Amino acid sequence: MISPDLEERLVAEAFRSRVNSVSHRSGFAVGAAIEAEDGRIFGGCNVENATYGLTVCAERVAIWKALSEGVRRFRAVAVVTGADVPTPPCGACRQILWEFAGDVPVVSVTEGGRRKLYRMADLLPEPFEF
Ligand code: THU
Repeated sequence: MISPDLEERLVAEAFRSRVNSVSHRSGFAVGAAIEAEDGRIFGGCNVENATYGLTVCAERVAIWKALSEGVRRFRAVAVVTGADVPTPPCGACRQILWEFAGDVPVVSVTEGGRRKLYRMADLLPEPFEF
């Protein structure tokens, strides 16, 4: 699904991005990385603010960065958290990842080294499309 080399590069970028997480409200730092079809990797971290509700997840920051650079085709996503077990993207991120990246593999990794591989089609069955 993802070559071991790509998976390591994506996870490494997600860890690098997580360092910049703006998560002083929740204390839950997240890093993400998305690979474009041309091999470029875009990282992102979660960004929280005083309203809480305007928080943006790391996955969406990463894909916004790629989309705003003109990227339209993607190969894989990585997410890194400090949770005890790997966590999949939230519902809002699933919708966005599905719409723009399609049925890509998503690898979720914990700081402690636990890993789980998902596919977007399993994470968002019967998606809204328009
Ligand atoms: N968060 C992400 O960045 N990605 C996820 O997949 C789940 C949640 C962020 C949002 C918020 O800043 C913090 O984690 C706690 O929910």
